Amino acid sequence: MIKINENYLKLQSSYLFSNIAKRVAAFQEANPDKGIIKLGIGDVTRALPQACIKAFHLAVDEMADDNTFKGYGPEQGYDFLREKVVANDYTPRGAAISPDEIFVSDGAKCDSGNIQEIFAGDIKIAIPDPVYPVYLDSNVMAGRTGHSNNDRYENIVYLDSTRENRFLPDLPREPVDLIYLCFPNNPTGATISKDLLKTWVDYARENKAVILYDAAYEAFIQDDEVPRSIYEVQGAREVAIEFKSFSKTAGFTGTRCAFTVVPKDCAAYDTKGEKHFIHALWNRRHCTKFNGVSYPVQKAAEAVYSEEGKNQVKALIRYYQNNADIILKEMSALGYECAGGKNAPYIWIYSETDSWEFFDHLLNKAGVVCTPGAGFGRCGQGFIRISAFNSLENVEKAMARIKKAL
Ligand code: MLT
Repeated sequence: MIKINENYLKLQSSYLFSNIAKRVAAFQEANPDKGIIKLGIGDVTRALPQACIKAFHLAVDEMADDNTFKGYGPEQGYDFLREKVVANDYTPRGAAISPDEIFVSDGAKCDSGNIQEIFAGDIKIAIPDPVYPVYLDSNVMAGRTGHSNNDRYENIVYLDSTRENRFLPDLPREPVDLIYLCFPNNPTGATISKDLLKTWVDYARENKAVILYDAAYEAFIQDDEVPRSIYEVQGAREVAIEFKSFSKTAGFTGTRCAFTVVPKDCAAYDTKGEKHFIHALWNRRHCTKFNGVSYPVQKAAEAVYSEEGKNQVKALIRYYQNNADIILKEMSALGYECAGGKNAPYIWIYSETDSWEFFDHLLNKAGVVCTPGAGFGRCGQGFIRISAFNSLENVEKAMARIKKAL
């Protein structure tokens, strides 16, 4: 008799954003005349930068000619992209990363969900609350947690991010082996200083732990004081893996291209206490389970780093950042305590009422979709997240509707 992986039964029945999409679809069916504005899932709405489109087209043409056609590419990504990533995102910030430490992939979601499989089943994991659900769910699937009671899985060390700590969690009180961090944060929009990030790196070094650092929203950092990569912190190469993506940076959510940085110094240990380098293990996993991102998509991603591409990406980020400024200003003017929205595309709003009730209220009365904070964890209860990813026109319309509805 075929048996299932019963860990899946511990999960909530559907993924947060699928759950929201279902509710929105039901509302739309019942109210076909009501226009809905989606400020829920952080999905970009603007076209790819022209530089990317041009490179994409040229690469497709190469695929149409026997002389330039490409079959399987390197699983880790083409050198042309890995070299550009290093030269633009790491070297100028003093981060000593080499191109062969970059693993190109189809998304930071997939990588941050998959990476846990190279670690042992009985490790202790620290996960922020609220949190991007993938970190937690992928560990539940792998059997590293017990059951969920009262919105908390057994065997997880939760790192509470609250109004009191300005959404910057304290170091774990007990030793942990794997730590998930995300800055600029999803969902709170909080950013971390280099000094504070150093305390996490130091903790990881002292405890022989690894930090999984999700920097998918790095492009929104405008403030020079805010670190754009964990590798700006000394010692991070030995204890940190970083996830980055072209999704929010350059509108690639539907095009799919991202990368994970696994420095060759970063290690984990076997049961005898012997050291193993994660780079080799991740490379092994990548080659076995992944066949690389398509050549045209990697060419489009490479164009992000051209002069033209850089300017177009800047304009794209400015556009969404302006939306974030508007949301932050309007929600604050309505008397709501807000976090994020600066150096981040998400505004984290203290609704003081049940998150899902507030979500329903905004949907029913304003036709605006947000994300209920409780969907990101227990500490998200009483909050909603509004995303800046939509057109300026829709953001202005949504804010006017919310003003009327509240
Ligand atoms: C979000 O809304 O939190 C993100 O768009 C989800 C994702 O990047 O997968």
